[in-house]
Amino acid sequence: MSSPYLTLNVVEITQETSDAATIHFERADRQPVACQPGQFLTLILPCGPGGKKERRAYSLSSTPGEAPRLAVTVKRVSGGLVSNYLLDTVRVGQQLEVMAPLGNFTLQPQPQLARSIVLVGAGSGITPLMSILKAVLREEPQSQVLLVYGNRNEASVIFGQQLRQLEQQYAGRLQVEHVYSQPTQGPAAHQHTGRLNRTTLLRILEQRQIPAAQAEYFLCGPEGMMAEAKAALELLGVPAERIRRESFVAAAETMEAAAAQPNGHGDVSSDDDGKIVTRNVTINYEGSEYQFEVTPQQTILEAALDLDIDLPYSCQAGLCTACRGKCLSGKVHLDEREGLSDAEMKQGYVLVCVGHPLTSDVVIEIG
Ligand SMILES: Cc1cc2nc3c(=O)[nH]c(=O)nc-3n(C[C@H](O)[C@H](O)[C@H](O)COP(=O)(O)OP(=O)(O)OC[C@H]3O[C@@H](n4cnc5c(N)ncnc54)[C@H](O)[C@@H]3O)c2cc1C
Ligand code: FES
Repeated sequence: MSSPYLTLNVVEITQETSDAATIHFERADRQPVACQPGQFLTLILPCGPGGKKERRAYSLSSTPGEAPRLAVTVKRVSGGLVSNYLLDTVRVGQQLEVMAPLGNFTLQPQPQLARSIVLVGAGSGITPLMSILKAVLREEPQSQVLLVYGNRNEASVIFGQQLRQLEQQYAGRLQVEHVYSQPTQGPAAHQHTGRLNRTTLLRILEQRQIPAAQAEYFLCGPEGMMAEAKAALELLGVPAERIRRESFVAAAETMEAAAAQPNGHGDVSSDDDGKIVTRNVTINYEGSEYQFEVTPQQTILEAALDLDIDLPYSCQAGLCTACRGKCLSGKVHLDEREGLSDAEMKQGYVLVCVGHPLTSDVVIEIG
C-alpha cells in the first residue's frame, strides 16, 4: 500500500472573506493527487504545544478537474489552534505535510446523467459543496445544481464572486439562493432573510420547482441547520439514501448523550453488557499486527499513538472516517458515530478515535 502521507507546496493563497482564505497546493512534481469531489485533506502542522504536530481535516474546495492543483478553504475559529495558525502563518512557497484525500461525502460525476443536485450549506460548510458543484457543472452537462447557502450577511459569503461567475457561465444549470440571518443590505432576488431552517428550505425548493423526491441532496453546515434541512426533506418524502451529510464539528448533544451513558451509545454490537475497563485490543494495519492495552481513559487510537503506532487519523472526533476499521471480533463502544452510516455500523465498521473495547477479544482491521 502506498504511503497515505504527501508533501504539498503552497502555490497561492486567496483571501475569500475577512476570516476565510483558500490555500492552493501542488505536488512538487506537479503530478495530480487522486481525489473525489467532496473529499477532505488532513493537514499536519507543528503548531501544538512544544511544536507537537496537530492534524485537522479541511474539505477540498477544488475539484479533480483543477488538477494538479488542490485547494482547501479555511475559516477562522475563534481561539482555534490550527485555523488561526494556517490563516496567520502559512505563506506561498511553504511545504505542508498532509494525509492524502479521504472521505465518503462525495459525488462521482457521470456525464450521461441528467439529475438535480441540491446543495445546502452554511458558513465554511460551503467548501465540499463547492467542490461537488464545480464537478457537476463541468462534467455532467445535463444536470442541474441548486445551492442554498446560509450566512450571517453578504460580507460573510465565501466564494461570492466565483458563484456569480459560475451562475453566468452555466446559466440555467446553476441556481444560487442566499439566506442571510443578519443582512446589511436591502432584499434582492434570490436572497432570503432569517435562519436557514425547514420553512425557508421548503419555500426555496417549491419556488425553484425542484423535483424534491428525485433530487440528490448534500448537506454541510452546523448541526442545527442540517437537522432542519433533513426535517424539510423528510416532509417532502425524500428517501434517506438521497440525503448525504458532512459534519465539521461533533454535535454537542451527541457528545453529552455519549458521556451520560458510556456503555449504551453507538455500540457496534447491540445488546452488549460489556463495561469500559482496561482491555487488550489487536489491530491489523498495513500487514502488521499490533496488540496493546487500552485504559478506560483512552480511546483505541490514543492508546496506539501513545505507543508510537502510526495509525491513520484526522479529526479525532468520530466525524471524518480517516481512522475507520472493521471489527473482526469482539465488541467496541463508540462515543460518537456521526461519520458512519447505518449500513457501515451493521457491517461492523468502527472509528478507533472514539472507540473503546468492551470485550477482551477485539480485533480491528484498518485500511
Ligand atoms: C471532515 C471535516 C472537514 C472539514 N472541513 C473544513 C473546511 O473545509 N474548512 C474549515 O474551515 N474547517 C473545516 N473543518 C473543521 C476543521 O477541521 C477544524 O476543526 C477547524 O478549523 C477548527 O480547528 P482549530 O484547530 O482552529 O480549532 P480547535 O483548537 O480544534 O477548537 C477550538 C474550539 O472551536 C470549536 N470548533 C472547532 N471547529 C469548529 C468549527 N468549524 N466551527 C465552530 N467551532 C468550532 C471546538 O469545539 C473548540 O471548542 C472540517 C472538519 C472535518 C471533520
Ligand atoms: S479520525 Fe476522524 S473519525 Fe476518527
